[in-house]
Amino acid sequence: TSARLSLDPAFVVAPVSRKTFGTFVEHLGRCVYGGIHDPGHPTADEDGFRGDVLQYVRDLGISTVRYPGGNFVSGYRWEDGIGPVEDRPARKDLAWHSTEPNTVGIDEFMRWTEKAGVEPMMAVNLGTRGVQEAIDLLDYTNGEGGSFHSDLRKKNGTEKPYGIKMWCLGNEMDGPWQIGHKTAKEYGRLAAETARAMRLIDPDLTLVACGSSGAEMPTFGTWEREVLEEAYDEVDLISMHAYYWEKDGDLGSFLASGVQMDAFIDDLVASVDHVRATKKATKRINISFDEWNVWYLDGEASKNPETEWPVAPVLLEDHYSVADAVVVGGLLISLLRHSDRVVSASLAQLVNVIAPIMTETGGRSWKQTTYHPFAQASRFAQGNVLRVELQSPTYETAKHGDVPVIDSVATHDPASGDVAVFAVNRSQTESVTIDIDTRSFGPRGAELVEATTLRHDDPYFTVTADTADQVAPEVNDATSWDDTVLKVVLPPLSWNVVRLT
Ligand code: AHR
Repeated sequence: TSARLSLDPAFVVAPVSRKTFGTFVEHLGRCVYGGIHDPGHPTADEDGFRGDVLQYVRDLGISTVRYPGGNFVSGYRWEDGIGPVEDRPARKDLAWHSTEPNTVGIDEFMRWTEKAGVEPMMAVNLGTRGVQEAIDLLDYTNGEGGSFHSDLRKKNGTEKPYGIKMWCLGNEMDGPWQIGHKTAKEYGRLAAETARAMRLIDPDLTLVACGSSGAEMPTFGTWEREVLEEAYDEVDLISMHAYYWEKDGDLGSFLASGVQMDAFIDDLVASVDHVRATKKATKRINISFDEWNVWYLDGEASKNPETEWPVAPVLLEDHYSVADAVVVGGLLISLLRHSDRVVSASLAQLVNVIAPIMTETGGRSWKQTTYHPFAQASRFAQGNVLRVELQSPTYETAKHGDVPVIDSVATHDPASGDVAVFAVNRSQTESVTIDIDTRSFGPRGAELVEATTLRHDDPYFTVTADTADQVAPEVNDATSWDDTVLKVVLPPLSWNVVRLT
């Protein structure tokens, strides 16, 4: 079987946005406690941050980290997490039926972001709180001094303002499970008022309004319209969230989750641009896809411990297979393909909780299978995203109809001449040879730098601390040239990167 892929440096979708490679740290399960923060761990630094995790985070190549939630933020009092640790209250976290000890708060998280070399994306609580607490927090983080909250930050040990630029106005406020859930009109007003007040402190912020928690939400489309009717002028981005998992043993449909993500993005763009048309606005609202991943939402790991209020329970600790990694690769392709409108995204989450990095509290850490496609895409997607013209065989799925067996996107860096082609083969049984026509890069085409593939004989092979090194991208030698056409054999059920120059 073969597929054909035409590339042209002129087919530019948009520049690669580094913010596409964001992730998410929520006070949920062992993401913070036992994940990034684990004072008893042998690699912990003076602040209690795990050195092994920090190294994995740096190697993952992430840009932004959204914090502190998630559903958690909708009941969070940020003031609980500042000042001397011994004076901080423990609180019930209603979102995850846990106890939040508040050992880590905003100042600790900001120190961690500096060590990790990432940009924070802060969320304010618009569930149980509102405008006042949001501007207090903003003054605490960004104020120069001379006001109560900015001076409090200094008193707590941080002289220089953090200068946090990206802010989420609440989280999933369309969801009935959300603490302080609101109607679109109520939320739209609150988001607009909060945004207006925040900009009075700092006009130069990127503000994200909550869009829908998923394409299947009954209010999807209407929610965006009603929220933006209130808040269009005040916000920059609208969020979308989506999780995918294999249902009813239907691997074929699951592997094509990128098709579903494409459709969700296209529908959201249509809803948002509808409001633009009615407002006769020139400003465009772009997208922050600030929660996306594979998550076995109906699995055991996602059940709350409802009989007690534990600190940092084991929650949402999904262990990912090779098939899951191929799906994550497909979702990255979808995000990149939409870089003209999706300018920011966050893989949910970073450590232990539906995460690319796993730890044992006090013990070992390892990379999940899904770590690899993210790390490669972040590293090699440089310059411009290119639309690729793809002719691929198709296969039938129960959920999405006929879908292409191969999905792909490419990037081209005009400065270095480097090209990266990202491709998934969704066939469970067949290798597919892709013909990459490189003649538009010069009369002699391009040169191959390296082709890699991530696969396993068993698509359900799931790594543990002991077997993590058994799944990683490997050099793919099944390549050959026919004049300017590079032929690469993509193994069944695989994530692939072909680098050219
Ligand atoms: O990422 C896990 C949870 O999923 C988040 O807390 C919430 O925003 C979403 O429903």
